[in-house]
Amino acid sequence: MKLYSNPASPFARKCRIIVRELGLTNVVEEANVDTRALPADFRRLNPLGKIPVLALKDGSVILDSPVICEYLNDLGGGKFFPGRSLIRENSGHWKALTLQAIGDGICDAAVARVYESRRAPEQQSPAALEKHLTAIQTSLDVLENAKFAAQTTIGEIAVACAIGYLDFRLPELGWRDSRPKLRDWYEKFAQYPAMKDTQPAALA
Ligand code: BEZ
Repeated sequence: MKLYSNPASPFARKCRIIVRELGLTNVVEEANVDTRALPADFRRLNPLGKIPVLALKDGSVILDSPVICEYLNDLGGGKFFPGRSLIRENSGHWKALTLQAIGDGICDAAVARVYESRRAPEQQSPAALEKHLTAIQTSLDVLENAKFAAQTTIGEIAVACAIGYLDFRLPELGWRDSRPKLRDWYEKFAQYPAMKDTQPAALA
């Protein structure tokens, strides 16, 4: 199967981390896509024109990153998605998915801010830039007081990918300055081989 991806994408990075953690590198081929110049037929894979996309051998596709991650987790017998339960409040399932939503939401706001800031100065919207910044900062403040799971879930992976993207594209935010607990947690998490192997980079 083929994972359409990009080395700068924090969304694709979640999938690439799971591939490595679960020893799926022999079954999942990674294909880099330049998101600024999508291949002409890419929308046949994903009508939204976004990565990541997982194309299966039978011709079907799986979208988007939370769904791909869950598929890969099941394929590799992983434990990144704690079991679902409405009875046991602490099953961890909803917490992991909510944490993933916060991580992905930071990425949405960060990518939007990066793209907005690349527009010609007279075309930039200060209100949009501020809105994205507020979403990022407020979410990081919540994460500073979050209780991360001892056994890594998709939530921790998503948060780590979001922070990695901030370091990559928005280092001027200096998110560590007022968030010592998050900084210490991330410094440890960033040491995992799968994190090191998927450090964001511009597409060559
Ligand atoms: C980036 O270059 O910042 C980027 C690329 C793909 C998806 C998201 C962000």
